[in-house]
Amino acid sequence: MKVTGVDFKGRDIISIKEFSKKELLHVLAVAAQMERRPDPHLLEGKILAALFFEPSTRTKMSFEAAMYRLGGEVIGFASEKVTSVSKGESLHDSIRILGGYSDVVVMRHPTEGAARVGAEATDVPVINGGDGANQHPTQTFLDLYTIKKAKGRLDKLKVGFMGDLKYGRTVHSLAQALSHFKVEMVFIAPPSLQMPPGILEELNAKGVKFKTIQDLKKGLAGLDVLYNTRIQKERFPDEYEYQKVKGIYTLSEKLIPLFKKDLKILHPLPRVNELSPALDGTSHAVYFEQAKNGVPVRMALLALVLGAVK
Ligand code: CP
Repeated sequence: MKVTGVDFKGRDIISIKEFSKKELLHVLAVAAQMERRPDPHLLEGKILAALFFEPSTRTKMSFEAAMYRLGGEVIGFASEKVTSVSKGESLHDSIRILGGYSDVVVMRHPTEGAARVGAEATDVPVINGGDGANQHPTQTFLDLYTIKKAKGRLDKLKVGFMGDLKYGRTVHSLAQALSHFKVEMVFIAPPSLQMPPGILEELNAKGVKFKTIQDLKKGLAGLDVLYNTRIQKERFPDEYEYQKVKGIYTLSEKLIPLFKKDLKILHPLPRVNELSPALDGTSHAVYFEQAKNGVPVRMALLALVLGAVK
């Protein structure tokens, strides 16, 4: 069953672009309810299939924790090596079979568009846990939730995105979601890792005010929120291209004098060397809180697509 509109029951979550502003805000409101008063019986008898064809710590574990916290059960895998895909079974067939064993599927896959293939293979709702460099919509819901909690609003913000804006799927989804709000965007990246032209065109078409810049220090000016990202080594076509940009930025405590007093720093994690642990204890750091918010936000998404809440 593929439902569109404001009813989430049975709905796939493939791209953040499929959600209206009203729907984004509704998910955040349900997540806040889940955080305040989780019902440990809400999803009793339901099974989540967590199918991770690519490594994950936060997305996989927080979906599993969300399902268990609401009384549901989880099946799944963390590598295609332990599945019959390694014997040559198609993605379509695998998802069709696993949809038959579960009530909802969350899947991560290295290929762009894989989640869409999965959604076409089964009648149960399919949630995209990240497809290549394309989209990571559930990360975006928790990013919005974190920004709203940290800043008290999603409007009237100047938001910087730094690092790998080309291959980083989280920044693609987040920029598209924030385009619904009165947000000014600053894209801080070397030219070879800037936001894809298609996304910049979408932002232009929606009248979003943004600029692209390479200089980190200049890019920090006046930011309310800074979304830092790892250079996505695994997505580069060759090692030489990666070596050229590896370690290009490090957000460290030395840059604090350039921050607005109430700047909040987010990072989808994992981090490598682009975010100094020396910032962890400062009032700017909200990235560990952000990762924790994955549980109530994913509780909300599971409960909504399973029709347990409206
Ligand atoms: N933020 C995120 O997607 O983390 P994982 O790769 O650990 O799931």
